[in-house]
Amino acid sequence: MPKSKQIKINNLEMAYGSFVVMRDLNFIVEAGKVTVIMGGSGCGKSTLLRHMIGLHEPSKGSILYGDMNFTAASEKEQDEMKQRFGVLYQGGALWSSMTLEENISLPLQTYTKLKPEEIRDVVSLKLSLVGLSGFEEFLPGQLSGGMRKRAALARAIALDPDFLFLDEPSAGLDPVTSKRLDELILQLRDTLGATIVVVSHELASIFAIADHAIYLDAISKRMTAQGLPTKLKADVTDSGVREFLSRGSSSLTSTGRD
Ligand SMILES: Nc1ncnc2c1ncn2[C@@H]1O[C@H](COP(=O)(O)OP(=O)(O)OP(=O)(O)O)[C@@H](O)[C@H]1O
Ligand SMILES: [Mg+2]
Repeated sequence: MPKSKQIKINNLEMAYGSFVVMRDLNFIVEAGKVTVIMGGSGCGKSTLLRHMIGLHEPSKGSILYGDMNFTAASEKEQDEMKQRFGVLYQGGALWSSMTLEENISLPLQTYTKLKPEEIRDVVSLKLSLVGLSGFEEFLPGQLSGGMRKRAALARAIALDPDFLFLDEPSAGLDPVTSKRLDELILQLRDTLGATIVVVSHELASIFAIADHAIYLDAISKRMTAQGLPTKLKADVTDSGVREFLSRGSSSLTSTGRD
């Protein structure tokens, strides 16, 4: 039986000590779709992503992967599940003293029994997927910002993850590079069949890639809207999300960033 790739967020409350970031979060991340977490700076997007990948314990509620209650699972079960995750952290850090080949080989050496020559094949396949064929021997410092992001994405997909988590993948990129990255994300959805969760506050990206989006509102500390971004922009009554999705409509065509 195929493993379910759906994620369910159930009455989730997230806090740092006594400081509550978000409460009463309830939503479903559908299998094989791109779900975008959106909201202003500091509302808790990265925190939510870190909860989903098991770097933080919920202060209340739970996160389910298919039928498995990830929050209640043992450390061993969580570790097994984590091997099905690919993560691109905000900032997208690669190991700066290692070549791209070494960076992308690392998860394969750690988690698989592949032979060195098989690992080399996987590395060159992943680099070709992100348009970086032939850059195996380059150090991250020898690449442009957009190329580094794509290399970090190649590392995130090294293990053919069922779940891919990307925190602000296009932040700091020029509009053309950012658009290419969006296309790549959709391509990964379609070729890997992965369930993809993307944190973003960049409108052009949100409209381009989201099959579904959730909006986190920093003031009420709640999710105040969810749906297809174009629908949310047209229909939603919540003023926060409407302003968020309508801000600087002209900048959409110029930079796509705020
Ligand atoms: N390690 C931490 N300890 C305490 N508070 C934290 C920690 N990390 C984040 N916070 C707080 O939690 C809130 C949400 O932070 P988070 O990084 O999740 O926001 P974000 O939506 O990802 O913002 P941005 O768009 O700027 O990346 C902020 O108020 C932040 O100060
Ligand atoms: Mg963040």
